[in-house]
Amino acid sequence: MKKSNIVLIGFMGTGKSVIGRKIAKELNMDFLDTDHEIEELVGMKIRDIFRCYGEKRFRSEETLVIKRVSLCENTVISCGGGVVLSAENVAALRRCGLMVELYADAQVIFERVKNNRNRPLLKGASVEDIEARYESRRKFYEVADIRIDTGLQNIEETVKTLKQAVSDLEGR
Ligand code: S3P
Repeated sequence: MKKSNIVLIGFMGTGKSVIGRKIAKELNMDFLDTDHEIEELVGMKIRDIFRCYGEKRFRSEETLVIKRVSLCENTVISCGGGVVLSAENVAALRRCGLMVELYADAQVIFERVKNNRNRPLLKGASVEDIEARYESRRKFYEVADIRIDTGLQNIEETVKTLKQAVSDLEGR
């Protein structure tokens, strides 16, 4: 069955936003980033929401945003890495789109995120910390219909691989 959206899930630093924007453009689809939607909704940066109100409040704002974005059509939805921790979020997203997990080696993720201050959960994280957090989430990412390793190829090649995988599955 053809679903109208492409939902990108996966750990922080796996390239969901960059790859999502690019594939949306190539497939003539809209693009949405749930973190950006949360920032608009709350009127604060993600790191400030965590700092001022904590993760629990962030997760409830995230679920509100997921409910809203899951009503979209013809959209690539790039999800924050922790979206899959909620069964409610997963159910809504599964109904609305093809689920694609982007993943990468912990070392690759470490290199990508080490100088970025916008991810409170990875502040000061080592490669081992990243590995441990990914392991604790592995089963949640298993809801994906397709998995793509973004550490193996450059962005253009990864987008090509993803496009092919989506087309094989949906005839897009
Ligand atoms: C989070 C991932 C972040 C953001 C928040 C929490 C997570 O998004 O939603 O910092 O729990 O994995 P990215 O995956 O886009 O970095």
